[in-house]
Amino acid sequence: MKKVGFIGWRGMVGSVLMQRMHEEQDFVAIQPVFFSTSQSGQLAPLVNGKQGILQNAKDIAALSALDIIVTCQGGSYTNEIHPRLRKSGWQGYWIDAASTLRMSDDAVIILDPINQQVIQQGLDRGIKNFVGGNCTVSLMLMSLGGLFVNNLVEWVSVATYQAASGGGARHMRELLLQMGQLYDVVAKPLQNSVSAILDIERRVTELTRSGTLPIDNFCVPLAGSLIPWIDKQLENGQSREEWKGQAETNKILNISQAIPVDGLCVRIGSLRCHSQAFTLKLKQDIPLAVIEQLLANHNDWVKVVPNDRELSMRELTPAAVTGTLKTPVGRLRKLNMGPKYISAFTVGDQLLWGAAEPLRRMLRQLTI
Ligand code: HSE
Repeated sequence: MKKVGFIGWRGMVGSVLMQRMHEEQDFVAIQPVFFSTSQSGQLAPLVNGKQGILQNAKDIAALSALDIIVTCQGGSYTNEIHPRLRKSGWQGYWIDAASTLRMSDDAVIILDPINQQVIQQGLDRGIKNFVGGNCTVSLMLMSLGGLFVNNLVEWVSVATYQAASGGGARHMRELLLQMGQLYDVVAKPLQNSVSAILDIERRVTELTRSGTLPIDNFCVPLAGSLIPWIDKQLENGQSREEWKGQAETNKILNISQAIPVDGLCVRIGSLRCHSQAFTLKLKQDIPLAVIEQLLANHNDWVKVVPNDRELSMRELTPAAVTGTLKTPVGRLRKLNMGPKYISAFTVGDQLLWGAAEPLRRMLRQLTI
């Protein structure tokens, strides 16, 4: 049985990973060791009927005893520990949720329903670092995989609608606190159905601009608003999140001629589902029915939602998809620009297929 170390298992992505591993009974096939950066020596969670002691996540000797490390601890941990561990001669598999190692030549970005072949080639070549992709990229490929793997996409333009969870747990709390404060300021007039809506709106807007809403994490109010920038600013005018779209998509697909992927990444007030609106230029004029079939047949989690008002409103929303592994795609139609141009709208849980699930499945294939 492989000895598997877990770091960052109590954080948001780590907790979703633990939950999924319990659901799929993944622990049965491994010998888990739980680590902590701050509470080593305390009791570890009870798994497989055994309860060990939390190990020190920075103890290179303890880490070296593992066959596989799964970390959801974040980029700074990877930066600090991974080079030291490799330098010490450790030959085990490193499975990581953070972006730090994603673009390294000695790492494969894992999304097995899309790139199992690339993963297998990596394993055969002796690659030992396997990293989960950016959430918008993974979710796009899960929903639109049928077009990408059949080499039908000439380019992609995207506008994202990204959930608060992408920033982290504190961002989600901040959004909800902002929502609560905005509601509280108008709770009374809202009860009175004849209050003037513009007076209500004015109070909300005044509070939004007052500088008193909690904004430690997002830096500006998000509730009742949006933020058209995610991650760092690059010199070419892209945000780092936008840059990842093309870089990671092409690395995951491992294709020689890069597919251009670009657009605008926007933070909105949903909790943990990222949505994306796409314009795609296809390489051929393919009938819509064939496009729908290719998409629907690609994997077990994608579902084509017919381009129908009622169904789109019911099935193609964060409210419908949150907490599930579904990655629906809808609003599919040919655009006025010409027969090779289509629109698509996708939704996916940013913590499941966007983060924890590819890691879980990589671990599974290394341990069965
Ligand atoms: N960077 C993403 C976001 C989440 O901010 O929504 C992680 O992939």
